[in-house]
Amino acid sequence: MDTVVSGIRSTGNLHLGNYFGMVRNAVKMQYENKCYFFIADYHSLTTHPNPVDLHMNIKQVMAEYLACGIDPDIATLFIQSDVPEVCELYLLLNMNAYIGELERTTSFKEKVRKQPENVNAGLLTYPVLMAADIIIHRANKVPVGKDQEQHLEMTRKFARRFNTMHKVNYFPEPEAYNFGEELIKIPGLDGSGKMGKSEGNGIFLVDEPKTIRKKVMRAVTDTGPEKQGQEPSEPVKNLFTLMEVMSDPGTVEYFREKHASCEIRYGDMKKQLAEDMINFTTPIRERINEIMSDNNYLSKVVREGAEKARESAGKTMRDVREIIGYRSF
Ligand code: TYM
Repeated sequence: MDTVVSGIRSTGNLHLGNYFGMVRNAVKMQYENKCYFFIADYHSLTTHPNPVDLHMNIKQVMAEYLACGIDPDIATLFIQSDVPEVCELYLLLNMNAYIGELERTTSFKEKVRKQPENVNAGLLTYPVLMAADIIIHRANKVPVGKDQEQHLEMTRKFARRFNTMHKVNYFPEPEAYNFGEELIKIPGLDGSGKMGKSEGNGIFLVDEPKTIRKKVMRAVTDTGPEKQGQEPSEPVKNLFTLMEVMSDPGTVEYFREKHASCEIRYGDMKKQLAEDMINFTTPIRERINEIMSDNNYLSKVVREGAEKARESAGKTMRDVREIIGYRSF
C-alpha cells in the first residue's frame, strides 16, 4: 500500500484547476492507499490574511474537500496548523536547505517579480515546509498539478539529503502522481497561463450558474480560423483543453471539426462549455453550502483528522529526533 500526502492552500475557494489537478485524483486514491490530505494554512500566511479571512478560508476549503468526495472515515483529512510537528521538521530541514537553491525555485522567482514589496522568508522556504508536510508521513506519492513538479523535485532532494547525511534510509523519495499520466495544467479563461485563485481567470466550484455563464462568455478567443485545418491559437487551445475535461468526447470532436472547417462559432462553443461546467459544479456547490452550515460535522472531522495526522507525524518525529541525536540520557 502506498502512502499519499497532498494539500491545498487556504487562500480562497477551490477552482476547476484545483479539482482536476489534485482533488479528483485524491478522491480516487483514498480507497486503495493510506492517504493524508490537508489544508495548507501555514503556507497561506505568506499572503498575510486577516484572522477572519484565514478562519473562513480554512473552513471553506475543508467543506470543499468533503463536498468533492474526500471521505474523512477513509482518508485522514486535517488542517496543517493542527499538526505542530510539521514545524519542527521544517526547522530541521531548513538547516540543510541552501539559500541558493531556494532562490532559484521558479515559484519564488515569480513571487519576487509579482510582489516585490512582500518577499518574506516564508516564501523563500516555502518548498522546505512543503517537503516537511510530505515526508512527515513518509509518503511516496503526491497527487498534484503540473505547477508543483519542481517542489516535488526539491522534496526528493531534501529527503535524500537527510538520508545521506545521517546514513539512513528513512525517508522515501516521493513522486508527483497522476495515475501514470502527465501532470495536468488547467488553463484560465484569460487566454494564457494556468487557472489560479488570484488571477481572476478561474471558475470556482461555488460559482453560481449565472456567474459561470458570464465568465465563460467573456473568455478570450481570437477572430476565428482563416485556413482549413489551421492550429487553434493559444486562447482557443485553452478553451479546447477546458472542454476536454468538462464535456463528453463527442462534443469536443464536434467543435474541433467546426474549427478545422472554419465554421466554428465561438459563442456556441462557450455556451456549451458553460452548461457542461454548470452541470458538473452544481451538485458540488450544493453540497459545499450544506456542509458549510453544519459546524458540528465540520468540527468533528477537524478533531478526528488532527488526531490521526498527529499520531503519524509524532511517530516520525520521534524517529527523526533519535536519528539526529536528540536522545534521552
Ligand atoms: P495550491 O493551493 O496552489 O493548489 C492545490 C492543488 O491544485 C493544483 N492546481 C492546479 N492543477 C492543474 N491546473 C491548475 N490550473 C492548477 N492550479 C492549482 C496544484 O498543483 C495543487 O496540487 N504548495 C501547494 C500546497 C501544498 C502541498 C503540500 C501540496 C503545501 N504542502 C504538500 C502537496 C503536498 C499549493 O500551493 O497548492
